[in-house]
Amino acid sequence: MTTYLIGNWKMQLNESESEALAKEVVRLWAGQGEGKPDAAVVICPSHMALEECAKAVKGMPVALGGQDVFWEDKGAFTGEISPKTLKELGCDYCIVGHSERRQHLGETDEMVNKKTLALLRHNITPIICVGETMEERSAGRRDAVVIAQVRAALAGVKPVGSQKLIVAYEPRWVIGTGKAVSPEDAAEMHHLILGTLHEMLSSDIVEDRCAIIYGGAVDAKNLAGFLAMDVIRGALVGGASLKPQEFAAMAEITADAKK
Ligand code: PGA
Repeated sequence: MTTYLIGNWKMQLNESESEALAKEVVRLWAGQGEGKPDAAVVICPSHMALEECAKAVKGMPVALGGQDVFWEDKGAFTGEISPKTLKELGCDYCIVGHSERRQHLGETDEMVNKKTLALLRHNITPIICVGETMEERSAGRRDAVVIAQVRAALAGVKPVGSQKLIVAYEPRWVIGTGKAVSPEDAAEMHHLILGTLHEMLSSDIVEDRCAIIYGGAVDAKNLAGFLAMDVIRGALVGGASLKPQEFAAMAEITADAKK
């Protein structure tokens, strides 16, 4: 089974910095990655850097992902990026519903659902982010919030053919803090999400086409602990993905995790 390490570079780098980081990740990981096909190492630069990063990863064991997408292929949608364009630029993955978009840009579950369907149409694997705020957790609503987000994101979704999907559990209050939840806490939520996937999709679809990963303050020190949990199939990484040595070390840990 594939294990995922996905770097979300957010809006942290300009085009030349992104290109340089992509090249450095490729340089550090290329030799090891080739013999380890079970690990999918993905970088998600900002949209304007996708073209240069695509050249840097071409033919290498590093895949490319977008950070967001619109749900129509073409039209009068100022400022948006089409799933068709993402595919043409070489993206095999795309993050949707990241908590920063939900928080700052009003991204709703309905939008996440439309984006998920659009990505699957283009054979791009959606990385659907879900997770509760600290307020929701403190109020005892953690499970209900996450289940509702998963249900809404996957309404009418049924991956077929070579389509796959990833759900990233990212507690919103952890992102960017450097303080992850415990692997046990994350695994509990992964089990809950897995149960929801089983309610919505057939077992073979869940087993063959869906993966649940953890995100929120993951680094080279705590990654192995998360991957030791059976139900955790990888990590979505923000801050640590900007440090090439650390990210390459994390790729190695990901590739060595037996799933
Ligand atoms: P972080 O971000 O690793 O910096 O906490 C994770 C994310 O936003 O996906």
